[in-house]
Amino acid sequence: MSDTDRHPFLAGLSKHRGAQPTCLIIFGASGDLASRKLLPALYNLAVDSLLPSDFYLIGFGRKPIPDADFQTSSATDISKFSRREYRADIWKRVSDQTFYQAGGYDEPAAYESLKQKIAVAEKSAGRPLQLVFYVSTPPTVFESILENLGKSGLAARGQGTAIESKVIIEKPFGRDLDSAVQLNKVAASNFLEPQIYRIDHYLGKETVQDLLVQRFANPIFEPLWNNKHVDHVQLTVSEELGVGSRGGYYDHSGATRDMLQNHTMQLLALTAMDQPASLSAEHIRNEKVKLLKSVQPLRLGPNGDAVRAQYTAGLSGGENVIGYHQEKDIPNHSSTETFCALRLTIDNARWAGVPFYMRSGKRLARRVSEIAVQFKQPVTGLFAGDSRYDIAPNRLVIQIQPDEGVTLVMNSKVPGLEPRTQPVRLSFRYATTFGSNTPEAYERLILDAIVGDRTLFIRGDETEASWRLFTPLLKSWEQLGKSGVETYAAGSWGPAGADDLLSAQGHSWRNAGR
Ligand code: BG6
Repeated sequence: MSDTDRHPFLAGLSKHRGAQPTCLIIFGASGDLASRKLLPALYNLAVDSLLPSDFYLIGFGRKPIPDADFQTSSATDISKFSRREYRADIWKRVSDQTFYQAGGYDEPAAYESLKQKIAVAEKSAGRPLQLVFYVSTPPTVFESILENLGKSGLAARGQGTAIESKVIIEKPFGRDLDSAVQLNKVAASNFLEPQIYRIDHYLGKETVQDLLVQRFANPIFEPLWNNKHVDHVQLTVSEELGVGSRGGYYDHSGATRDMLQNHTMQLLALTAMDQPASLSAEHIRNEKVKLLKSVQPLRLGPNGDAVRAQYTAGLSGGENVIGYHQEKDIPNHSSTETFCALRLTIDNARWAGVPFYMRSGKRLARRVSEIAVQFKQPVTGLFAGDSRYDIAPNRLVIQIQPDEGVTLVMNSKVPGLEPRTQPVRLSFRYATTFGSNTPEAYERLILDAIVGDRTLFIRGDETEASWRLFTPLLKSWEQLGKSGVETYAAGSWGPAGADDLLSAQGHSWRNAGR
């Protein structure tokens, strides 16, 4: 194993220097994700001179768009959504090598035309290009695209060589266990596993990558990271925004498929897994899969391990906002959950008996993603039974976003002659220590795919392990329809049932800021 294989994290951005000349093909090029995230990510990679020296971009979509219009609209998207100011001279180098291919995702002829566009790019580069296909379309056409890439010979191009084709597959990867297994099958019958990059953009966030460093480069934590010392863990991924213009997609998905099955489960896996044998992609993913497989089936039904709810009209960010049923493209009878909270049990020696709570939802009080590890209170204590001593449980809060940082809650004597104590915070903020203009998740992930590092991508068995947990729950909800769907006012912290889930075990949500 080479040093870069064993230490992909440490090799970091310098890896791009060996990056192959590349043609990136975005399926769904005029979609929301491409405009808001993918094109701005490419721009920022260009600003940092991290794209391969020969880099070509082809947008693929159903709408016919002339190359020049795609180039112009890309520049507009970047100006609107990039974290750094748009500079035409920088983007020009990419823009001059940008093309557009219109066609149906299921039309073999469109892939033949795509091949011709690729041939034009290769002629201009004067050498063969590695092909990176980014599937960023609605999930209904994922299989069609994979199959057509296979049939057209584009998937197998250069297989096993340094310029082999790669495919990045966006979420949602399936909508239950069967469809994920089927999608994995279709992917595997057209690509080899090392060519497949299943994306979860949470893994590209700096703070999520830092979880490995926090946990395994700071040996003070490991002896405490178990059921002897940890009382419970809370994972929150809350959003202030509603479904906005994505109602059509969201109503078929819901909070559980949209956020918990993927993003939140990845946070859980990285928080709770054992130390990997090395930082190689396979070792890290092995540990994540092992952990996901140890999560016990959810108890379904009333007083079970899951709560779902929909937001109603309320006050969010100081403004009156409408409820889920009034949002565009949401049917009146919809039972889709915009909030989900779960209580998970991990059946292994490290975590037996420690509840892991997770929740995610739209239109909650604040946007925050965090992992809060709450340690046990001392069984006996010098300070017990005296109201002057306000002793809080120690708590380590890893804040993924916004205001990225790590806080340790400790107890301290309040200065003065009175014998009083108070919980205090030891706090590290990324922005104050490292500055705030860090790369966005998609920059890191696109670059990793170009250089062939799969550490921050999901393996097929990983996504299946997660779906195995969620599928019975989602099926039971389908059968129940609206029965059991709670409500919460937009701008609140969610439904009463989510509080009951914790209070049943003497716990309560740490609502951000508390
Ligand atoms: C996406 C979901 O995967 O993640 C969206 O589809 C959600 O519904 C988004 O808003 C949240 O991502 P971030 O990076 O803003 O936390």
